[in-house]
Amino acid sequence: MEKKYIMALDEGTTGVRTIIFDNKGNIVGEATQEFIQIFPTPGWVEHDPMEILQSQIEVTRQAICRAKVAPEEIRAIGITNQRETTVIWDKITGKPIYNAICWQSRQTAEIVEKWIADGLADEIREKTGLVIDAYFSASKIPWILDAVPGARQRAEKGELLFGTIDTWLIWNLTGGKSHTTDYSNASRTMLYNIMKLDWDEELCRKLDIPMAVLPKAIDSDGDFGTTIASLFGAEIPIRGNAGDQQAALFGQACFKPGMAKNTFGTAGVYVMNTGDKPVFKEGLTTTIAWGVDGKVSYALEGVVFISGATIQWLRDELKLIYTAADTEWYGATVPDTGGVYLVPAFVGLCAPYWDMYARGMIIGITRGTTRNHVIRAGLDALAYQTKDIINAVIQDGTIEVAELRVDGGAVKNNLLCQFQSDILGIPVIRPKITEMTALGAAYLAGLGSGLWKSTDEIAEHWAIDKVFKPVMAEEDREDLYFGWQEAVKLTRGWAKR
Ligand code: G3P
Repeated sequence: MEKKYIMALDEGTTGVRTIIFDNKGNIVGEATQEFIQIFPTPGWVEHDPMEILQSQIEVTRQAICRAKVAPEEIRAIGITNQRETTVIWDKITGKPIYNAICWQSRQTAEIVEKWIADGLADEIREKTGLVIDAYFSASKIPWILDAVPGARQRAEKGELLFGTIDTWLIWNLTGGKSHTTDYSNASRTMLYNIMKLDWDEELCRKLDIPMAVLPKAIDSDGDFGTTIASLFGAEIPIRGNAGDQQAALFGQACFKPGMAKNTFGTAGVYVMNTGDKPVFKEGLTTTIAWGVDGKVSYALEGVVFISGATIQWLRDELKLIYTAADTEWYGATVPDTGGVYLVPAFVGLCAPYWDMYARGMIIGITRGTTRNHVIRAGLDALAYQTKDIINAVIQDGTIEVAELRVDGGAVKNNLLCQFQSDILGIPVIRPKITEMTALGAAYLAGLGSGLWKSTDEIAEHWAIDKVFKPVMAEEDREDLYFGWQEAVKLTRGWAKR
């Protein structure tokens, strides 16, 4: 049977998705499902790793049925995942010893404060490319090991395993045979030396991380093992793996240095390919884009913690809309926000502010403010935050940003894309396929399994849906953005007051 399909397992922060692509990169079947967000106390965010695993298996089976392909026709699997989120499990029973601590969670802020006081920030930045923060996996590991009785001793004896969600899925899908991750995910742990391409022993010692728990990091188009046949009806090789943001960069065919994309997912993430050289810039992180064919590419990255999640919050917590798509209709009923700003610093602020203690705010409300103004302010916040990041990218004049390739669920919203273009003053380009994280993982698996021969061949699949050009007057752009910056200032340090 001809093996011409690639299956991407896309495990995001709020939901799981599986998409099956044909050999031209077209979607032939997909299924998706949300999973429960656990908020044990304000500022903490956790997930149930077993629920994630079960949901991912279920949507994969559904996607295979919907695509009407035989499991034997699936050539390879590519995995992509919410990054940094940390799971520790028992090697023998396979049971997690605690919930997964989500990348958004602030419960380890005190551990990070101590590391900052110990003077570790510079060493961490130089070795891992990251800005010391509770966002990354490193502080979540000792937090779990110290919260669960006996866990630290068991980890030291080699009885426990750590993984980001890619590793957790791979270990389970291969029946416990493969404890692996790829370079892109490893580079988000704050433990991985991105120059030496290895776990940093000295850093692990200083941060109290038993190295026995760490997975093996390999190329993103490497061999991650084979799924057990009973899961999907055939043994399928896992030949691609990358963190979702790096996978989206790959899906957007940003293969050359200087090419960049912004994904509007739960988080909003701008990533620029910097080629074989890591580039450091104030307020941004330096990370590994991927390892392909034995060659590592680096990336410059700016993360906004709460991007599309703002829309989810308007829907689920404020109940101002029924579906995320409603924001376009309601938002368009008013010409602007009427002076309202919504700063979604719900879990602090990431790049370029790095403030673990900032909290969200709605300001500028008057007697005439309506629900529609608030919805519009929520939507605009996604675009303002991207501008904050791009300002950090161009701050010293060494990099020029002339256009923005966008992807992720929220870019179906034309109002958002137009405002993004207006507030940046550059064209915003929306490609035909916007599920770039899954597509990127599929491309990696396709390369790894020989379905596609080169990135040049893949780049030919990329096609434009629509280009949004800026129409806003420069004076209005400056005025609106000034208001945003003032609003952000007011949120800073709020949880520490
Ligand atoms: O670093 C966090 C990022 O990987 C989350 O991605 O797609 O869930 O917004 P997403």
